[in-house]
Amino acid sequence: MDHFALQDGVMHAEDVPLPRIAEEVGTPVYVYSRATLERHARVFRDALSDVPDKLIAFAVKSNPNLAVLKVLQKQGYGADCVSVGEMRRALAAGMAPEMIVFSGVGKTARELSEALEAGIGQFNIESEEEGLELAKIAASMGKTAQCALRINPDVDAGTHDKISTGKADNKFGVPIDQAGQIFGMLASHDSVNLRGVAVHIGSQLGELAPLERAFEKLGTLVKSLRGAGHTISHVDLGGGLGVPYKRGDQLPSPAEYGAMVARVTKDWGVSLIFEPGRVIAGNAGVLLTRVVRVKRGLNNPFVIVDAAMNDLARPALYGAYHDFAAVEPRGAQMTANIVGPICETGDTFAMGRECDLLESGDLAVFRTAGAYGATMASSYNSRGFVAEVLVDGDKFAVVADRIEASAIMDAERVPDWLA
Ligand code: LLP
Repeated sequence: MDHFALQDGVMHAEDVPLPRIAEEVGTPVYVYSRATLERHARVFRDALSDVPDKLIAFAVKSNPNLAVLKVLQKQGYGADCVSVGEMRRALAAGMAPEMIVFSGVGKTARELSEALEAGIGQFNIESEEEGLELAKIAASMGKTAQCALRINPDVDAGTHDKISTGKADNKFGVPIDQAGQIFGMLASHDSVNLRGVAVHIGSQLGELAPLERAFEKLGTLVKSLRGAGHTISHVDLGGGLGVPYKRGDQLPSPAEYGAMVARVTKDWGVSLIFEPGRVIAGNAGVLLTRVVRVKRGLNNPFVIVDAAMNDLARPALYGAYHDFAAVEPRGAQMTANIVGPICETGDTFAMGRECDLLESGDLAVFRTAGAYGATMASSYNSRGFVAEVLVDGDKFAVVADRIEASAIMDAERVPDWLA
């Protein structure tokens, strides 16, 4: 459930009419709903009420906006980060360092030491090589790094190839059949406290079965690590729960996910960490755009909007579906190709889509754009970075300024020897 709905024929974000935001901030603009973020945060936490000891660490990569992180910090969420850039954001939003976990296959030495200095709660080590480097850096700083070993369970998540992370040939984690040996080797270093294991098999999962298989494998591994004399106090189960992009999409609910987790992990005797991203932020945001013009096409008209693949990359990257709706629907429908202004055919949001009848100058939204939306923007075609707005009841604030193309150009220079 979200808070983007028609009131008197005009789409609102909570109690703010979207045309007001378009008027005051311009388009394209991402609009987030605080009430929706909070609702999703509560629903996910409540779904895990049978898990006694847990940390919910929001996957910052899905929406790193400071105001969004602040909303989640107030809900008691920590953060899952994959760069020190994200870590700094989580800290700036007031998240306690102990509630931050740091994942990613390419953490640099500089990032490892900055995160150690900050005293973050857990490094999810993705390779033997990374573990050894972290042990060395921590020793040189006189610190102990709290760590989990990320396991690649070789489970097919059944999602888009580009967002699957748990198959044997993916770059993430260590192969599960080598985990015991690598764990033993890394645990022998005093400067790392290897206290558990972590897993994340992919994103936008439409079924619980692959997650359950991965968790079962992890449970077996925890037993065998304990059998080898290791203390396992923490297990990180990652994120990945999918959200409905299309009306009528049937996805496992947070409650079903929570029940499965509680059942599979009930005898583990560990503190669990969760890293949800999309399920919290996805349906808490829309991309508000204006129709530049409608162009006749061979089969269907092209509805050309002022948002493009640089603002919302998912359709171009993954062929992803985003629901598209008029802000002030006329009650009539059309079949259209919905495209942006960028000079490549990939800048297509939808072909042959049944949608509200739209004319030049109309406002429309791409729904479910709160996760992996603004954060994946680029300045391709010398377009700026889109602005972001947070709505709270009947008020709203710009929570990220639009970065104009001219500001990006101002950061470039022609060297004297070329002038
Ligand atoms: N934890 C780890 C280690 C991850 O790699 C990810 C996502 C998450 C948690 C959060 O997953 P979520 O709950 O949001 O599914 N750009 C793609 C999604 C990439 C996901 C990468 N990892 C998209 O737009 O669909």
